Amino acid sequence: MNETIARLMNHRSVRKYTSRPVERERLETIISAAQMASSSSNVQAYTAIAVTDPQLKDKLAGLAGDQPYIRECPVFLVWCADLSRLKAAAERHASDKPSYEGAAENFVVATVDAALASQNAAVAAESLGLGIVYIGGVRNDIAAVSEALNLPDYVYPVFGMCVGYPDPEHGAGIRPRLPLETVLHMNGYSAEQSGRGVQTYDETTVRYISDRTGGRRTAPWSKLMADKLTAPSRLHMKSFLESKGFNKE
Ligand SMILES: Cc1cc2nc3c(=O)[nH]c(=O)nc-3n(C[C@H](O)[C@H](O)[C@H](O)COP(=O)(O)O)c2cc1C
Repeated sequence: MNETIARLMNHRSVRKYTSRPVERERLETIISAAQMASSSSNVQAYTAIAVTDPQLKDKLAGLAGDQPYIRECPVFLVWCADLSRLKAAAERHASDKPSYEGAAENFVVATVDAALASQNAAVAAESLGLGIVYIGGVRNDIAAVSEALNLPDYVYPVFGMCVGYPDPEHGAGIRPRLPLETVLHMNGYSAEQSGRGVQTYDETTVRYISDRTGGRRTAPWSKLMADKLTAPSRLHMKSFLESKGFNKE
C-alpha cells in the first residue's frame, strides 16, 4: 500500500466540523486538483459553486433536508453538470448546424465529468486534512436550489459537498464495503458473483451498525437497499432536467 491508496482506504464522510475556515488558497488547490480529473473529450462540462455566505448556506440547508452540516461547514460546494459553455461554443462556431446539448449522451457526459472532478476534490481535500460529505439532498428541491444559485439552462446541481476541518470529537468510523468479488468480475458479468457477496455483507453491516448504535439499529444492507428502492425518491428529476434542456433526445 502506498500513501495515496492508504488515504483512499481511510475515507469516511465527515459531518461535524470545527469553526476553522477553509483557506481560499486551499479551496483553489482543491479545485485545481479537481480540474485535472479526466474529462470526456476534454469538455470539462461541470462547474463547482463554492457557497460560503451563511445566509445562502442556510437557505440551501433548508432546501436539502435540513442537514445541519450544510449550515455548519465553512464551504459548501455545489457540483453542477454544465453544458452551457458547450452550447455557447456551438452557437459561436457552428450556428448553422443542429447542436445536441439536449441529448441523453451529453447529459451522461456532463454528469460523469462533475462526478470525476468532485471525487478528485474530495481526495485532495482529505489529503490536506479536511473532511467532506457529499449531499444528494440538493436534488430534494432542485428547482429552488437552481434558482438560489442562478443556474442557467443546461446546468443542473448533481450533488453538494460539505468541506471543512473535521471535529476530532465526532470522528466517524470507516464504513465497510461490499466484498471485493461482488464488484470485481473478470472478463464478463457474473450474476452469481454479484449476489453471493451480499449475504456476507449483510452480516458485516448488521455487526457494524449494531456496534455503532448500541444495538438500536440492526437492519442488514440488503433490507436498507430494498427500503430505498421501494420508496419513491425525487421523481421530479425527469421533468426538471427536461425543463433545463437536458435529456430531450
Ligand atoms: C452522490 C452522493 C450523495 C450523498 N448524499 C448524502 C446526503 O445528502 N447526506 C449525507 O449525510 N450523506 C450523503 N452521502 C454520503 C453517503 O451516505 C456515504 O458516502 C456512504 O454512506 C458511505 O459512507 P462513507 O462516505 O463514510 O464511506 C452521499 C454520497 C454520495 C456519493
